[in-house]
Amino acid sequence: MDQYELVEKALCSVRKKTDFVPDVAIVLGSGLGALAEEVENPIVISSSEIAGYPASTVSGHAGRLVFGTLCGKKVVVQQGRIHYYEGYDMAEVVLPVRLMCLLGAKTVILTNAAGGVNKSFCSGDFMLITGQIAQFVPSPLRGANDDRFGVRFPDMSEVYSRPLLSLARECAKEVGAPVREGVYLQASGPNYESPEEVNAFRILGADAVGMSTAVEAIAAKHMGRDVLGVSLITNPAAGVSEKPLSHEEVKQAADKAGRTFVALIKSVVGKM
Ligand code: HPA
Repeated sequence: MDQYELVEKALCSVRKKTDFVPDVAIVLGSGLGALAEEVENPIVISSSEIAGYPASTVSGHAGRLVFGTLCGKKVVVQQGRIHYYEGYDMAEVVLPVRLMCLLGAKTVILTNAAGGVNKSFCSGDFMLITGQIAQFVPSPLRGANDDRFGVRFPDMSEVYSRPLLSLARECAKEVGAPVREGVYLQASGPNYESPEEVNAFRILGADAVGMSTAVEAIAAKHMGRDVLGVSLITNPAAGVSEKPLSHEEVKQAADKAGRTFVALIKSVVGKM
């Protein structure tokens, strides 16, 4: 079965449960879990009910899609992201994003926790993603291309929508979120980067480093969707401060900024 047929099969499983057509897909990163609670009249479909949907191996939330209304917009929220470091291949990692697009989403909002590579960034800052570096991980488009997703050689010169960036900039001001802008680099994980790698990434032009998002953005852009990416800087990346990195620190910072993160994304969705 090719990739498109796999996603279609997943689509069939969802369509057996709901005919809801979302306009906006939102992928929740660390710290944003609470956003799913704010979806009105939610229809929840667990990943185990969706054919071919990878099982999340990260502790905490089981994977699920939440359909409903958020700030007057029809949304689908992906809770429990699939990461490359869990052992899945990239086509599996992007299956949820492709599925949400086939379900109807025209706009995709990707959120994540990331390490600050830019030395002027502080923990708790938000970074609107202006561009990305994805060459350190395999492309999700590797393998036979199905034109029903998009063209074989898609242009990536503007992965992140400029109008959505302007909107997010405005909304960040409005909700008082400390906001920066910059380039997101996806590393493979699960180990955090070495200080030498972080220095190299900075020279390459990265402002933040994380273990998700860039490949999801490629898959959504391949399908012609408008993409907005927002990182929460949870820690200075390795070597930027003396402190060793820990998942605990990342989780704590994500939890602390959670309310502002939710407010920011809600504001963006409401004004779309
Ligand atoms: N590196 C990679 N991914 C991350 C980091 C980091 O420093 N912080 C949160 N996610």
